[in-house]
Amino acid sequence: MKNIQISPSILSADFSQLGTEIKRLEKAGADMIHVDVMDGHFVPNLTIGPPVIKALRKNCSLKFDVHLMISPVHKYIEAYANAGADIITIHPEATDNLETSILKIKELNKKVGVSLNPESKIDLIINLLDKIDLVLIMSVNPGFGGQKFMPEVLNKIKELKKIQNEKNINFDIEIDGGINFDNCKSAIDAGANILVSGTTIFKSNDGDIKKNINLLKLK
Ligand code: DX5
Ligand code: ZN
Repeated sequence: MKNIQISPSILSADFSQLGTEIKRLEKAGADMIHVDVMDGHFVPNLTIGPPVIKALRKNCSLKFDVHLMISPVHKYIEAYANAGADIITIHPEATDNLETSILKIKELNKKVGVSLNPESKIDLIINLLDKIDLVLIMSVNPGFGGQKFMPEVLNKIKELKKIQNEKNINFDIEIDGGINFDNCKSAIDAGANILVSGTTIFKSNDGDIKKNINLLKLK
C-alpha cells in the first residue's frame, strides 16, 4: 500500500481560532497544511494572504502546502516563500510564463506545484513535468469549499501516472475539491498520493479530525 498523505484545507476551519485549529490538525496526524489563497479576481472568493500565513507557520512543525489562486501570480511568489510556504502551487492560467514562475519558486528553494482546473489539459504542463514537484488536480472549480466532486478528473490522474511511468519521472499527485469517504478510494486508486480535504475533515463525524484523517487514508 502506498503512502497516502492528507493535506487538510484550513478554508473549512474556524477562522476565529486558526492557530488552535492548526495545532489540532498537527495532533490529529495531518501530513501538511493546505492553505487556499484566493484573490477575488482569479477566483470569485477572497481569503488570506502572507501575513496570516507567516503568523500561523511560526507555531507549526508541518509543511505548509500553499495553493495560490491569484492572478497575476508571479510577482507575489516571493512574498509567499518569505511567509513560510513549503510547497507553492500555481495555476498555469495565472502567469504569463509558467516556466519562469516555476524557476522562480525553485530559486527560492520551495517545492513547485502546478494546478490543473477540471477544464485544464495536461498539455499545459507536459513539457515542464521534470521541473515540477507536485501536480494538483482540481476536482471542483476553484473558489469555494464544500462543492461536489467531479469524478471525470480521475482520468487525468490516470494519464499522469502513465506519463510518470513512460518518462520515468516522479512528482506527487494531489487532488483537491469535494473529497469524502465515498470517493477517496477512487482518487487513490487512480494514482493520487496526497488528498486535500476541508469539509470532510472539519465537519464529518462531529469534527473528529483524527478519525476523518484516518478514514480518508483508508485506515
Ligand atoms: C477550492 C479549494 C479547496 C477546497 C477544499 O478552491 O482549493 O482546497 O477548499 O475544500 P472541500 O474539501 O470542502 O472541497
Ligand atoms: Zn486548494
